[in-house]
Order: sequence, then structure tokens, then C-alpha cells
Amino acid sequence: MSPLNVLLLGGGGREHAMAWKLAQSPELAKLWIAPGNAGTAAFGENVPVGPSNLEAVSSLAARIHADLVVVGPEDPLAAGVADRLAAEGIRVFGPSAAAAEIESSKAFAKRLMERVGIATAASAVFDDPEEAKAYVRAAPHRVVVKADGLAAGKGVTVCDDVAQAEAAIDAAMTARTFGDAGERVVIEERMRGRETSAHAFTDGFTVRHMPFSCDHKPVFDGDRGPNTGGMGAYSPPLWLSEQTATRIRIQVTERAVRAMAAAGRPYRGVLYPGMMITEEGPRVVEFNCRLGDPETEVLLPKLRTDFLQICLAVAEGRLHAVPVEWDPGVTVGVMMASGGYPGRYETGVPIEGGDDVDPDVQVFIAGATLDQRKRLVTSGGRVLCVVARGASIEEARERAYDNVRRIRFEGAHYRSDIGARAAEPLAATP
Ligand code: AMP
Ligand code: GLY
Repeated sequence: MSPLNVLLLGGGGREHAMAWKLAQSPELAKLWIAPGNAGTAAFGENVPVGPSNLEAVSSLAARIHADLVVVGPEDPLAAGVADRLAAEGIRVFGPSAAAAEIESSKAFAKRLMERVGIATAASAVFDDPEEAKAYVRAAPHRVVVKADGLAAGKGVTVCDDVAQAEAAIDAAMTARTFGDAGERVVIEERMRGRETSAHAFTDGFTVRHMPFSCDHKPVFDGDRGPNTGGMGAYSPPLWLSEQTATRIRIQVTERAVRAMAAAGRPYRGVLYPGMMITEEGPRVVEFNCRLGDPETEVLLPKLRTDFLQICLAVAEGRLHAVPVEWDPGVTVGVMMASGGYPGRYETGVPIEGGDDVDPDVQVFIAGATLDQRKRLVTSGGRVLCVVARGASIEEARERAYDNVRRIRFEGAHYRSDIGARAAEPLAATP
């Protein structure tokens, strides 16, 4: 095989990890990243092109003679970037817009799960706010209100009572807090249990499961405070039984891949069901059509197989020929965030200590850039993710936090309990 020109779409911590891994492949000729960030720049050429701008992505791919396009985030997939590039004869790692609806339309995902018997929360879809509120008032259980479309992870309100649910319905449908995503809402039964992310590579037929991982969404220790894009992650959850893991692989991920093929929407890329382990068994919280962030940051350091080979095999529909191997160890990733995040925060704050980090610890950049003086400065709410490996969760945590403490920027904050419950038995869940 002659070396490949690869274009990676996206610019967060996930894409830094993907670029780092793609660059380890002997099959790579050159990597371009659109738009990339200060971290991806070490592995290829950043190009200031928005990943959801299909015209711009298409002409960039043509200009650089891209052999393969690897898509990080969900927005370009929902916008049809895979369809567009495939029509131009370019191989793509990422599902078509029709297949990406498993994430971009919660209503579609719910119908699919119902049709093939994938366990999930009971739900109903509403186009009318008054009908939605009447349903909530009559519901025998607490509810979760979700804007139907993509809302950058922010369209979900987990409600404690009817008043909160009614307010969430008004915010989404009437005030349009999440834009058009709130035209319809999905009202779900509120589930209880611990969450885990199941990820798999698939070419629509063969499924290669990744290790399980867990992210930490709330901003403060003990899962307090508002939700964020993710304050850290670990892999694997030692509390997840092998029996439950197998059940998720077969009855959720593989069943969904087959259901998508049967629905005429063959699924190619990463399928990532977000799971909740309830007393009644594992149930789907949502499906995602791409790698999780920050899950990717703790998964890819454990991937032994050439990532570029996997992406290519997925794009070409021959994943059956590529065995995928993982390190058995534990990884912990701690996200360092800007002061004030997830509320208002400053950018342009200098970051120090990056050079003091151990050589086998990864620092994936989520929101940082080089200023005119070539100093690394903050440029986002989530700034960087420090990822360490260990033979045990204790070792991985200790090494991650030891390195986190060497990195300094004004206002920096992070959770001190990432992975702290990784080994705590499930029965201890409140
Ligand atoms: P989503 O964007 O659908 O993943 O939802 C974000 C978060 O809201 C999830 O990670 C859960 O913590 C919570 N959540 C979503 N749906 C439910 C549900 N039906 N029951 C309880 N919590 C939920
Ligand atoms: N870690 C959550 C997500 O990527 O959706």
C-alpha cells in the first residue's frame, strides 16, 4: 500500500488524540487537520476550515489529494460530510447523514430501539408544548426533557419535579434556548444507575468493541454543579461485570448495527451507545455517532493496532480482516478547565509546566493555542486533558494527578475525583 494523505476533521482534545495516533502509522504520508488546534499541529498541518462547511471541506480534500477523511465531531456527520466526500470518491471514516441520525435525531433513535427491542427509557415525542406538559403532569415517574436535535450536549434537563419539567419544555420549545433543536422534545422516564460509554468500530457488518470507559460530566467533585462537555474519564470501569458488558455488546451495539443495515442506513464509523446500568439491567441513554470526548483521550492510548489501518478498513468495509487489540491497563484522563467554566471564562491565559510532564503521560489539548509570542495560552473552557496509564486504577490516578499538578495557569480548575469510583461495586450506587 502506498502511504496515504489523511484529512482529520475537528479541533478538540479528541482530535488531538486521534492525530497523535494516526501519526504513529507507517502508512501515513501526510496529515492535515481542519481546523485542528495547538496539539494537532505537532502531527500535521492545521488548515483554518470549518469541519461542517461541506464546500470548504470538499475543496480542501481535493486540493490535498486526500485518500481518507477521518471525522471527529458529530455536526459535520449530521450535515452530510461523509455522503458528500463519498460521492466524490473519497474514503471516509464516519457514518452517512442518514446513519448519523442515530445521534442527531433522538426520536429516530427511540423508534429504532423500540423496533428491535433495545432496552431504553420509556419516552414520548412532542411537537406541541401544551401536550408535552400535560404528559409530564400525568406521568407516574420523574422525567428528563430533551431537545430532539443536536444541542452540543446541552439540550438535556434531568428533572426532579413537574415544575422543573414544565420550565424545561418552555425553555426548549417556546424560548428556543437550543435553537431549532428544540422544535420537538423527547420526554423520557428518568432512569437511575451508573453510566458507562460503550464504543465500537464498525463497517456495517463487523463490530470491533473497544474497552468500556466512563466520563465525568458535572463540573465539581462528587458529581455536583452543572454539566460540562466532560471533566475527565477513565477506562475500564472495574465495577462493570463481564456479564453486563457482554449483554451490552450483543443486545445493544451489535443489534443496533444490524438494525441500521436492515433500515437501509448501513453504519460505518464509531457507534457509541451511552449506557446506564439500572436495577433492571443496562439501558441506553443515547446513541452517539462518533468517538466520545474525553473518552477518546483515555481509549486511544490503549489501542495497540494501527489506528489508520482501522479507519481505512472501516471506510472500505473490510474490518473483518483487521483484528483490533488493546492494552489491558487502566487509563485516567483529568481535564483542566478555565476559571469560571462552564460559565463565563477568560482566554489567552498563559499555560506553564507542559515540559515538566513525564514522557509517557499524554497531554491532549482541548482549548489552547499559541499566541504571537509562541506561548501556549488558553483558548477554550476545557483546556487540556492529562492522561496517565497504570497497571491499577490507583497507579493511573496517582500518576495523572501528579502530572496535573505540574501544569499551571491562572484560574485552572479540575476535579480531584476522576476515576475515584472506578473500582467501587455497583451496589454502592446511590
Ligand atoms: P444525553 O445528552 O442524552 O447523553 O444526556 C446527558 C446526560 O443526561 C446523560 O449522560 C445522563 O446523565 C442524563 N440523562 C439523559 N437521559 C436520562 C434518563 N432517561 N434518565 C436519567 N438520566 C438521563
Ligand atoms: N463524553 C460525552 C460525549 O462525547 O458525548
